[in-house]
Amino acid sequence: MQYKTQLDARMEKPNVLVVDTVDRHILDALESYGAAVDYSPGISRDAILEIIGRYQVIVGRTRMPIDRGIIDAGEKLRIICRAGVGIENIDAEAAEARGIRIINVPGAATESVVELTVHLIIAGLRSTHSCIEDVKAGKFVKSLGSELAGKTVGIVGFGRIGTKVSQVLKAFDAEVIVTDLKDYREKAGKMGVEFTDHRTLYSRSDIVCLHVNMEVNKVPVIGMAEVGMMKDGVILINTARGAATEMKAICEGLDSGKIGFYGADVMWNEPPKEEAELRMLSMRNVAVTPHIGANTKEAQERIAKSLAKDLVVALGEIEGA
Ligand SMILES: NC(=O)c1ccc[n+]([C@@H]2O[C@H](COP(=O)([O-])OP(=O)(O)OC[C@H]3O[C@@H](n4cnc5c(N)ncnc54)[C@H](O)[C@@H]3O)[C@@H](O)[C@H]2O)c1
Repeated sequence: MQYKTQLDARMEKPNVLVVDTVDRHILDALESYGAAVDYSPGISRDAILEIIGRYQVIVGRTRMPIDRGIIDAGEKLRIICRAGVGIENIDAEAAEARGIRIINVPGAATESVVELTVHLIIAGLRSTHSCIEDVKAGKFVKSLGSELAGKTVGIVGFGRIGTKVSQVLKAFDAEVIVTDLKDYREKAGKMGVEFTDHRTLYSRSDIVCLHVNMEVNKVPVIGMAEVGMMKDGVILINTARGAATEMKAICEGLDSGKIGFYGADVMWNEPPKEEAELRMLSMRNVAVTPHIGANTKEAQERIAKSLAKDLVVALGEIEGA
């Protein structure tokens, strides 16, 4: 769909290709700037490859990886814009080699992801997800759950989201222990949570929450070895990225009962398609939401406003260069 082509008359302004659904604020900001925006949220990779040579800017979200192929074909590309938090689906190396700037919005979805994480933890403790399904199906059966108060929760990745989740969980009277690749002992101490190493965290936690960023991890953070270190029946929550856990380790952990519950907002394939992940999804002790961590009105508005501002500044800079 052609969103606005006022650039037909002013060819000096940048052409922008938007390949995912984005908030109106971004489109309005681009329009006010005078850019020519082609808004094509469902466009295929092949179609992008055919036309990307005409654009200075590409804007996307999670759906479409901006890989080396797209970057190489984008001869005029100057800016890659991710209307979201992580940039792991952008080939940053290829972009950097060409001097292409990457713009994203770290932090804009923190509150939304924190709240969803707590929801998944409670689902794991109280089986609310399956109770609701049962009642709908006419089965008014009570399950016996557990309280969050007094449980030890291990937070892997003590960045923006991990920190806020820790604060919220302390209000539930949970014991919070954290780990990170960076030395956050001082921050942890100030918050009254314990900073520890990965192994200790896995062995002590009743609940493990993953809040790592995957740009710095070449392999899944949770594989067979890590699952093996965890308590029997552990509740494992992943609202970070599908690739943060190893599919085989999670499926085998669920099959053996080592993992008592897997709650996630992210999958290895989105939507899930492999036999193992589809089978896992049918289990009662698995609850997965369709990557809606950042999908609140508030987060989307924050993302859009922040991105619109940064994008207009960057457009001015590339025009002036
Ligand atoms: N579900 C969603 O829709 C959604 C929305 C926003 C963010 N996220 C994801 O949530 C995650 C956290 O986001 P954030 O804003 O808190 O990021 P952040 O960069 O502020 O924090 C991530 C932390 O993880 C640490 N880390 C990375 N690898 C680690 C490892 N192997 N072990 C221990 N620590 C490790 C980093 O050092 C960093 O401190 C990211 O993966 C992000 O993409 C998901």
